[in-house]
Amino acid sequence: MQILFLGAPGAGKGTQCKRLAEKLALPHLSSGDMLREAVRQGTKAGVEAKSFMDKGMLVPDDVLIKMFKEFLSKPEMDKGFILDGFPRNLAQAESLSTLLTELSKALTVVINLQTSDDLLVERITGRRVCPNKECNAVYHVKFAPPAKEGVCDKCQTELSHRSDDKPEVVKQRLATYAEQTEPLIKYYGDQGLVKTVDGEGEPEAVFESLIKALKVPA
Ligand code: AP5
Repeated sequence: MQILFLGAPGAGKGTQCKRLAEKLALPHLSSGDMLREAVRQGTKAGVEAKSFMDKGMLVPDDVLIKMFKEFLSKPEMDKGFILDGFPRNLAQAESLSTLLTELSKALTVVINLQTSDDLLVERITGRRVCPNKECNAVYHVKFAPPAKEGVCDKCQTELSHRSDDKPEVVKQRLATYAEQTEPLIKYYGDQGLVKTVDGEGEPEAVFESLIKALKVPA
C-alpha cells in the first residue's frame, strides 16, 4: 500500500502514521522529521529549511522534492510506504505524481485526517517530543503524557518542545495549511483517492476509524 496523509498541523498525522507503520510494517516518511533531522545535523538543506520552519512557512519545493526522490527510490520502498507531510502544495503533488510514475508506483489511498481548529491549538501547545532521531516519539501533557514527566517512555531521553510550536508560529502554520495544503483534498478527491477520517476522538478511536477506512483487519 502507498498511503498519503493530509491533515492540519496538530491533526494527529504523526501519531497515527507511527501506529499504522508498525501495524502494516511499512516505512513512515515524515517530511517534518526529516527536515528537523537535517536541521540538527546542520546540513545545507537543514540550514536553509530552518528559517522557513521557524516562521511557519513552507520550505522551498526543491529541497523537499530532492529529499523524497532519494527516499522513494530506495528498494525498501517497494513494499509500500506512508507519506506524512509531503506533498504540501500543488507543485509538490505534481512532482510526486511524476516521480511515482517513473518508479512504476501509484498512491493507493489519501487519508484526510479532519479536526476542528480549536482542538489543533490545544494539541500543539501541549505537545512534547522525543529529540532522539531513532525514536521521535510524540507525547501530550494532557492527552498522551509519558509515565515519568518530561522523559520519553521508550528511550528515556529528556522530552523537548518543537521550536515551531510557539503560538505565533502555530497561527502561521495553520494559515499556510489552509492556503497551500488544503487544496490537495480536492486535487486527490478528483482522482477518487480521498478517504476522510474523523481525527477528533481519543487516539485509539481515531486509529480504529483509520483501520476501517483502509479496510485493514483489526
Ligand atoms: P510537520 O512536522 O509535518 O508539522 P505539521 O504538518 O505542522 O504537523 P504536526 O507535526 O504539527 O502535527 P501532526 O498532525 O503530526 O500531529 P501529532 O501527531 O504530532 O512540518 C513542520 C514544518 O516543516 C512545516 O511547518 C514546514 O515549515 C516544514 N515542512 C514539512 N513538510 C514540508 C513540505 N512538504 N514542504 C515544505 N515545507 C515542509 O499530534 C499533535 C499533538 O496532539 C501531540 O501532542 C499528540 O500527542 C496529540 N494528539 C494526537 N492525536 C490525538 C488525539 N486523537 N487526541 C488527543 N491528542 C492527540
